[in-house]
Amino acid sequence: MIKNIVIEESISKDLLVVDEYEFEDIAAEFINCEEYMNLSLESHHGTQRLKHSFKVAKGTYIIAKSLGLDYKSATRAAFLHDFFFNDNFPEDIKSIKRSKEHPKQALLNSQKYFNINEKEADAILNHMYPLTPTRPKTLEGTTLSLVDKGVAIQEYILSLGTRKTKNTINQLNKKLIKSR
Ligand SMILES: [Fe+2]
Ligand SMILES: [Fe+2]
Repeated sequence: MIKNIVIEESISKDLLVVDEYEFEDIAAEFINCEEYMNLSLESHHGTQRLKHSFKVAKGTYIIAKSLGLDYKSATRAAFLHDFFFNDNFPEDIKSIKRSKEHPKQALLNSQKYFNINEKEADAILNHMYPLTPTRPKTLEGTTLSLVDKGVAIQEYILSLGTRKTKNTINQLNKKLIKSR
């Protein structure tokens, strides 16, 4: 009986953490920025960079809030962590180099278009740790960094499925053309 009460309490506490209105309130600042919304034109882990950023922001919001952290700063940093464009880098840049360099570009763009605090700046700059030399200085930054990796793994696996389907369709099309 006691065990059930504990489980029910933990579930309802988690549910209370998700406040769609509050999350949308934080998101509004970014949705109203035309330059930020151009992230929808950028590809990222087989999806749009905008969709990726929203997923990371939502995950960071839920976890940071449930841990009693400064979830507003954590969520704002999450929205901005990949605020860069592919043409910010040379076309032939190696993907590992871009993985290391894009946080600096995201920080520059974030500072250009938004007012961000020190905690948010640090979280953006170090979200790719251990690819960056320094780790995030705060738990908010660490939360963002871990959620980003989880979302990236999920997107990568989903994109493998899409690629496999596309390859299979291409192979079938080739066989059909040959058999004519
Ligand atoms: Fe990133
Ligand atoms: Fe990311």
